[in-house]
Amino acid sequence: MSKDDLQEIIKLATDARQCALARYSNFCVGAALEAEGGVYTGCNVESAAYEQTICAERVAIWKALSEGERKFKRLCVVVDTERLTPPCGACRQVIWEFCGDIPVVLANLRGDTETFQMKELLPHPFDAGFLEETGAEQK
Ligand code: THU
Repeated sequence: MSKDDLQEIIKLATDARQCALARYSNFCVGAALEAEGGVYTGCNVESAAYEQTICAERVAIWKALSEGERKFKRLCVVVDTERLTPPCGACRQVIWEFCGDIPVVLANLRGDTETFQMKELLPHPFDAGFLEETGAEQK
């Protein structure tokens, strides 16, 4: 998939959103993660034990990582909101740790899109590099 195939990745995330299991929030989210070896999609899955709920972004990332993918190019998140929906804090941490400073495309069902770099969404990250710098992992 080339950089210009924005509409294609948005369509994949939009289709994945149809699979959302969001009976408690009714907030359906779809994600599509472009990796070196292909595109991995995800939707949010909610549990009756609410804290077990998982976001669409993390489903896509876990799917890709568990298939052996390690290099990521772009993530797309689609929600039917007028104001484009950004990844939650927990997802920002995971996206940063496993995908690095990739572009994150936010889109809705009305054709609006906006793209942010992960660095903009998580400007002062706590990550493996930080732990190494501080030497904390050796104690
Ligand atoms: N949700 C996502 O899937 N991704 C986000 O970036 C924001 C929140 C889900 C979690 C929950 O199922 C519902 O949206 C409401 O928070």
